[in-house]
Amino acid sequence: MALPPNFLEELRLRTPLAPLVQRKTRLTKSGRNWKGCCPFHGEKTPSFYVYDDHFHCFGCGAHGDAISFVMQAEGLGFPEAVERLAGEAGLQIPQATPEAAARERRARDLYGVLEAVEAAFRRRLNLPEGAEALAYLRRRGLTETTIAAFGLGWSGGGRGAIAADLKADGITPAQLAEAGLVREREGGEGYTDLFFNRVIFPIRDRRGRVISFGGRTLGDGQPKYVNGPETSLFSKRRNLYGLDLAKEAAFRGKPVVVVEGYMDVIALHQAGFGGAVAPLGTALTPEQMEELWRLTPEPVLCFDGDAAGGRAAAKAAEAALPLLTMERSLKLATLPQGEDPDTLVARRGPGGFTTVLDGARPLSEALFALLTEGRPASTPEQRAALRHRLAEAANAIPDKTLAAEYRRALLDRFFAASRPQRGGGGPGSSLGRKPPAPPRNRPAITLERTRAAQAAALFAITLRHPWLLAEVEECFAAIDPGDARLAECRDRVLAWLAEGHELDSTRLMDQLAGIGLAELTTGLLRDPGLPEAASADAQPKDVLDAWWHFYGLLRGEAELMEDLASARRDWDAMTTDPVVQARAQQRLIRLTLLLSAQRRGEAAETEEAAPPVG
Ligand code: UTP
Ligand code: MN
Repeated sequence: MALPPNFLEELRLRTPLAPLVQRKTRLTKSGRNWKGCCPFHGEKTPSFYVYDDHFHCFGCGAHGDAISFVMQAEGLGFPEAVERLAGEAGLQIPQATPEAAARERRARDLYGVLEAVEAAFRRRLNLPEGAEALAYLRRRGLTETTIAAFGLGWSGGGRGAIAADLKADGITPAQLAEAGLVREREGGEGYTDLFFNRVIFPIRDRRGRVISFGGRTLGDGQPKYVNGPETSLFSKRRNLYGLDLAKEAAFRGKPVVVVEGYMDVIALHQAGFGGAVAPLGTALTPEQMEELWRLTPEPVLCFDGDAAGGRAAAKAAEAALPLLTMERSLKLATLPQGEDPDTLVARRGPGGFTTVLDGARPLSEALFALLTEGRPASTPEQRAALRHRLAEAANAIPDKTLAAEYRRALLDRFFAASRPQRGGGGPGSSLGRKPPAPPRNRPAITLERTRAAQAAALFAITLRHPWLLAEVEECFAAIDPGDARLAECRDRVLAWLAEGHELDSTRLMDQLAGIGLAELTTGLLRDPGLPEAASADAQPKDVLDAWWHFYGLLRGEAELMEDLASARRDWDAMTTDPVVQARAQQRLIRLTLLLSAQRRGEAAETEEAAPPVG
């Protein structure tokens, strides 16, 4: 069975190895990789390691990829193993027709063609006709070593120059056409060159084989760059410029950085950032993300400092969400306005780019700013639309636990970001909470509030809007705020409620002040990190939503189930009082929603994510 290498690559890419091995032996995480007891020889201590794309047993020497694992573990032949994995990956196996076999042979030959073409371009750079191009590259600061490492060349002036160079190697114009270097003339009379009067940038695949070329004009002519067309070897979607070199660099621990252009990759490489890669004139694709994750769990995407850069970053972030797992994420870095990595290192040296990398923010932190950028959310409609967008973003993450963390982080930001305006707000609360919000242009995001901060937010909302106790009394009573003073405050509020006062914030605050809780309660309400729902003029619907949001964060699943059972009891034992009836019903609805959200993984696992303080 002659299967195209492309197909086998795709199959390997779509078949994560660890889950496959897990069917045969239990694996535990070992750094970025996995280890377990070897399924191929009896052993008690694990010496079987599973890496991204291969496994190795240090005990018996078993070694291979997903396909050979299935062959060895299931005793299957190569075709059967491929068939099984293709079935599981939802891939169609290409028919092994004679034409396909011939195509295959040609593809293998095509690598040879491209290699010969690259050599011819390189030769021309060092001929007199390439002098101007060489001077251009030198002027742009490239060293001899860099020019050689990237195999930069000169196209020649066109008119069949390359075809003539390669004739001696027995390479035909038809082969050059198949390699994407020449195009058949309209009317079928001979061929025209795609690249002429251009500096040549060979494009290589992850294994370092030349698969296409990019070419740049020496001057200001348009288009600035031309790139080879899609061929049987070259797919723009799947390859990244510099990936072969970045693979090595990543292995040596260099950060993997995605930048925009050929020259950026080259300049960064020369400045010591060997992990730099670039997409091939398009936005980063999911296939390219997969490639990056084979090198590192957290590649850095680098964007321009202008509005267009922000939009590109937002797009990239949203495109990445459906692909995220706990081990695969992103970082986003922003370049200084008006610089690309090439000009930056030229002007400020490697340190200039190190600063950019140091400022890279994890996706979880950057996402909120990206999703809200330039879109103020002040009206209820805008706020609702924004919340919807945030929820959708989190929903796009397939892993439920991870989605829950993102949802929580985003919603927390949401409630915190549009906080009420206060003249000369006090310096933080008595609970020693987080410092005030960062300035607008740089909303640094902490992944989640601590449990103490969640409790403080819930209490502040309650103090500002005691009317909501009519709906939430039972639940408010059930809260363990994890802080003795807050617990006392809770009990005092409930006692005051039981006395049947008008549910007015000022009166409640006076009451609490009268029994020595003034410092605590004013501290709570003055905290600059409060959600908007804690402001006096918040909409009742927002107030209740926020209250239940924080309640959900503070209660675990088991506790919510208790709440729900107790709400049901109240409902069953119901009086005919329509007010009481409505209230029990409301509680049932809220709790049911919270519980089902939590079971879908949407609410907080308070134990894991936010350890109780004290
Ligand atoms: P840029 O215009 O930012 O180019 O395009 P650059 O890399 O900074 O190039 P220099 O510094 O002017 O030489 C970024 C990338 O977009 C693609 C290329 O891949 C380029 O590297 N591009 C750009 C094209 O494909 N065609 C074009 O006409 C321009
Ligand atoms: Mn540039």
